[in-house]
Amino acid sequence: MCGIVGYVGFRQAYPIIIKGLKRLEYRGYDSAGIALMNGGLNVYKKKGKVSELENSLSETDLQSTIGIGHTRWATHGEPNDINAHPHYSANENLAIIHNGIIENYSTLKVELERKGHVFHSATDSEVFVHLIEEIYIKLKCDLDEAVRLAMTQVVGAYAIVVMDKNSPNQLIAARKGSPLVVGVGKDEFFLASDATPIIEYTNEVVYLNDFEIATIKDGKLSITNIHAQDQTPFIQTLEMELESIEKGGFEHFMLKEIFEQPRSIKDCLRGRISAETGHLVLGGLREYMNKILVTDRIIILGCGTSWHAGLVAEYIFEEFTRIPVEVEYASEFRYRNPIIKEGDLVIVISQSGETADSLAALELAKSKGAIIFGVCNVVGSSIPRATHAGAYTHAGPEIGVASTKAFTAQVTVLTLMALVIASKKGTISEAKLRQLLFELESIPEKVEKALLLNDQIKYLAQEFKDSSNFLYLGRGYNFPVALEGALKLKEISYIHAEGYPAAEMKHGPIALIDEEMPVVFIATNDSSYEKVISNIQEVKARKGRVIAVVSEGDDKIKTMADYVIEVPQAHEALMPLIAVIPLQLLSYHIAVMRGCNVDQPRNLAKSVTVE
Ligand code: G6P
Repeated sequence: MCGIVGYVGFRQAYPIIIKGLKRLEYRGYDSAGIALMNGGLNVYKKKGKVSELENSLSETDLQSTIGIGHTRWATHGEPNDINAHPHYSANENLAIIHNGIIENYSTLKVELERKGHVFHSATDSEVFVHLIEEIYIKLKCDLDEAVRLAMTQVVGAYAIVVMDKNSPNQLIAARKGSPLVVGVGKDEFFLASDATPIIEYTNEVVYLNDFEIATIKDGKLSITNIHAQDQTPFIQTLEMELESIEKGGFEHFMLKEIFEQPRSIKDCLRGRISAETGHLVLGGLREYMNKILVTDRIIILGCGTSWHAGLVAEYIFEEFTRIPVEVEYASEFRYRNPIIKEGDLVIVISQSGETADSLAALELAKSKGAIIFGVCNVVGSSIPRATHAGAYTHAGPEIGVASTKAFTAQVTVLTLMALVIASKKGTISEAKLRQLLFELESIPEKVEKALLLNDQIKYLAQEFKDSSNFLYLGRGYNFPVALEGALKLKEISYIHAEGYPAAEMKHGPIALIDEEMPVVFIATNDSSYEKVISNIQEVKARKGRVIAVVSEGDDKIKTMADYVIEVPQAHEALMPLIAVIPLQLLSYHIAVMRGCNVDQPRNLAKSVTVE
C-alpha cells in the first residue's frame, strides 16, 4: 500500500506533491511526509492525514523545484512521526520514499548495523536507503548504480524514489511488484503510484516495469534494468479526464461513485453488445477462444468485493456455459498447493489491478499452464499486464475505499464473458441470448431508477444507524449481494454485519435474532422467492426487524416485512446489479450519520499491495 509522489522540473514541487498525495490517500492515510531541497535536503513528516502535514507546514518556507512525498499505510512500525516517510540515509544526504515490503530487511539491518549504521525508525524502508548509501559511498558510483546494486540484495516488493542532496536536479526511481508511473512533461517529470497526481500536468506517461530503474537527471529520463541494460521508455497517452477524479459536487467520492453506476455500466457495455443486431463481443477473449471452448474448469480469484463479483459470476457461468466454476480467495489459493491443470481458465478480478495476493495467485496459476484472464479497472496496472488476455471494466477511477461501481462493472463484464462463451459453446439458445442482451441494455436505466430510492433509504438509515449488528440474507444470485451489503456496512460504518445464504440461517445465525436485530433480506422475484418468504417468516417469528429489498409491485412481502425497498425487476441473473444499489446507499447513509470517514475508513486501504 502507501502512495508515493515525486516531482522535478521548473514549478514549485510542494503544491504538486501535496495535491498528489491527497489523490493517493486511498492507498493509505496513517501518516504523511515530504522531502524538499529548500536550503538543504529537508524532510517533514507527521502522523495523520496529508492535511495534517500541510497544516503543520503553513509557516515553513517550502520553495523547491524538486521533491518527493509519501502517504503511508503502516506495515512495519506503528503509524507515528518517526516511521512516516521519507527516510534519511545515515549521513542525511539521501532520502527515500517506499511503497511495498522488504522481506529480508532484518538480515540487511543487522549487517548494516555491524557496519556502523544507526536506524531511527522501525520500518523496513529505512534499511533500503541505508543499503543504497553504503554501496554509493563504498563504490563511489552513480546513485542509480547504487540503487541497482541494492535491488540485487533486497527481497520483497517495492516502488521507491530516492533524492540526493548533492544532485538537486535528479530523482532515481525503481520498482518491483509495486506500481510506479512516470509522467513526462516538457522540462519536467512526475512520479506517482498511479496516474491521478499527474493527469492535470501531462497525459504522457511511462509505466515502469518490474526490476527497472528510472533516472531523471538534468531534464532527461533514462531507464535501465537490474542487469544494467538500457531500456527504451514506452510512452503512453492517457485518456483519463480530470473531472473523473474529483468529487463533482457530491459530498463524498463514494456517493458520487454510487450515482455514477448507470453511466459506468453503460460504458462497460459500450461497443460490446447490441441486442437489436445480436452483436456480442469481448475483444480480449478472441485469441484464446479455442482453448476456452475446450476447458473443463474455471477458477475465479479475487479479494474483498472482487471476490463477491466472482461469486455472482460462478452462478452465471455455471448456468449458461455449463463449465464447473470454483471461486477462491486469492490469499488462500496461493498458499495451499492448489490443483491447476494446463488449459484451466483462471479469471482474476481486481479493481486496482495491484492487489498483492491476487497478483501472486495469478503468477502461480500461470506457472502451471492455466490461461489467465483479467477483469480489472485500472488501465496499465500490474494484473492486466501479467495476464494472457482480459477485459477492462471501464468504470473510471474509483476513489472511495469501499468499492461500489467497480462491483457492478465487474459483474457486467463477467456476464458478458459468460454469454460470449455460452453462445460459442452452444449452451444457450439464440432466443435466450437475445433476451439477456435486451435485459443487459436496460440495466443502466433500472439502476438509475433504483437510485431514486436515495431519500427513502436515508430515512431507513436514520431508523437503524444505532444498531450494533446486522444480518444480510439472500439466496441464489442474491446470496453474494447479501455478502456485499454486509461488507459495505462493516467497512464504512464499523457496525458488525454478516452476510449469509438465507437458507443457512437456521444452522446458526437464527440464534442471534431478537427484537434488536435488523435483518436485510434481498428477496426479489426469482426462483427462490417462495423459499425466501419462509425465511422472512422465520425471522419475524423471532421478533427480528426485517428490511426487504423486493421487486417493484411485490405485495406479499409488504405484509410481513417492517420495511420494503422496491427495486426494478430484471432477469434473476442480472438482479445483483440492481439489488446491490440500495445496500450501498444504506451503508453510505448510516456511516455518514455515525460521523464516520466514508471515503477513508479506518485501517483500510483501497489498493492492498501487501500480503
Ligand atoms: C481492499 C479494498 C476493497 C477491495 C479489495 C480488493 O480490501 O478495500 O474494496 O474489494 O481490496 O481489491 P481489488 O483492487 O483487487 O479489487
